[in-house]
Amino acid sequence: MTSQSNTDRVYIFDTTLRDGEQSPGATMTLEEKLQVAEILDTMGVDIIEAGFPIASNGDFEAVATIAKRAKNAVICGLARAIPADIDRAAEAVRFAKRGRIHTFVSTSPIHLAHQMRKTEDEVLEIVTKTVAQARNLVDDVEWSGMDATRTPLEFLARCTEAAIKAGATTINIPDTVGYSTPEDYYQLINDLITMVPNSDKAIFSTHCHNDLGLAVANTLAGVRAGARQVECTINGIGERAGNAALEEIVMALRTRADAMPYHTAIESTHLSRASRVVSAAANFPVQYNKAIVGKNAFAHESGIHQDGMLKNASTYEIMTPESVGIKSTSLVMGKHSGRHAFKEKLKDLGYDLADNQFQEAFQRFKDLADRKKHVYDDDIIALVDDEMGSGADRIKLVDMSVTSKTGGVHRCELKVAVDGAPVDVSFDGTGSVDAIFSAIKAAVEAEPHLVLYAVDGVTGGTDAQANAHVRLEMNGRIASGNATEPDTLVASARAYLNAYNRLLVERGAPAQGALAG
Ligand code: KIV
Ligand code: ZN
Repeated sequence: MTSQSNTDRVYIFDTTLRDGEQSPGATMTLEEKLQVAEILDTMGVDIIEAGFPIASNGDFEAVATIAKRAKNAVICGLARAIPADIDRAAEAVRFAKRGRIHTFVSTSPIHLAHQMRKTEDEVLEIVTKTVAQARNLVDDVEWSGMDATRTPLEFLARCTEAAIKAGATTINIPDTVGYSTPEDYYQLINDLITMVPNSDKAIFSTHCHNDLGLAVANTLAGVRAGARQVECTINGIGERAGNAALEEIVMALRTRADAMPYHTAIESTHLSRASRVVSAAANFPVQYNKAIVGKNAFAHESGIHQDGMLKNASTYEIMTPESVGIKSTSLVMGKHSGRHAFKEKLKDLGYDLADNQFQEAFQRFKDLADRKKHVYDDDIIALVDDEMGSGADRIKLVDMSVTSKTGGVHRCELKVAVDGAPVDVSFDGTGSVDAIFSAIKAAVEAEPHLVLYAVDGVTGGTDAQANAHVRLEMNGRIASGNATEPDTLVASARAYLNAYNRLLVERGAPAQGALAG
């Protein structure tokens, strides 16, 4: 057992709801953000970056509501180095038991020359003014030097010193473009802590992007060099290739405490559920071989591995599935399972559904069990995630019929409900899916561009449910949709509608024709 002192403690700053939500297509509704925030707060995240309050009224409302509800975590709002941004962030976090403003400005020569068009001296003055403004509004201020890893050390050190002098208590050193190597990043954090005269008055923080697949390695190098806050996201979602994955950092520190004697306050048994909730809310599938939370992370396929596992799990497992919240249950579900068994199963899988969500999910489970002999955990997870991800959709599929003929016509007759009102259309296409998507476009009177369409099976077998993913783009915005159904074509139609509904979310726009042009 490692002894745990305060200096070994690493604070987890989760930015799933800010940097994570900036992933193309990962837009979440308010309800989904609240659900994600609740699990982050429960699992022991120290600071939740809940959004960018000036970005939109939706973002402001999300940060303010999360600030009101959070029981444990510090709630943080992001602000550019602009007075109006900082005021807005302060307004949003003022409801929190403990609120933080995170303000950032670019520091690298590339950003100064091409984006900011400012000199180093001008940037230094901005740092002092904006941090002081934030510090007049809240006690807890974080400052970030954007593109810090491509900034000359001497200038970054002067900015850091100025930020601390103006009242910043956390200094974040972002590897904004994911350019660093672990050696570079270790050296940078170590140099800053050593050479900035007032560095002992702030906590240093990592914020590493994953463009070269090094985000977690760089983060851990930063911790070894003295950083005591790490910025990360569930499933590693975030701008471009994403951010350092929270679950990987937490489990690396836990599993290799011998090499990295630091600890976090995260209750790791929540990790698997947090991953599923974020994946469903952001409509972002988790790759099968993703460390810690991927479907295959604890699966053993080869004969030699299976043989070893049967003899002793430690032969091929460095951590247990239970330690990240994967439970092996023996409760088999089928058409004779009742409400009580279904509720127990959901509890086992880590779901806590509201009454109406439970009723809907139970009904869908019964329908599925009528058609499918074995209902596996993965079927139930897919079904519940689908229910949670599409419950708020304004446009819903009511009925659909597709006829197809080899070398002939493919026709879709479709009925959707738009804010409750029925709309009927029929459309011919070059194939069944083309006919369905064209019919939907006709029904909603809009022409979103299809960026991605993919279908996979939830489990094996011809009676497996189909999981369809659709990504749409319209007027520069991207949204993803998912749906799980026993029928591939119905899943495809519902995934398309789910993505379109998400395109509507931010605009508060009328459901039909809203996104045309
Ligand atoms: O990657 C980055 O530089 C950021 C800042 C806003 C901290 O996300
Ligand atoms: Zn970032």
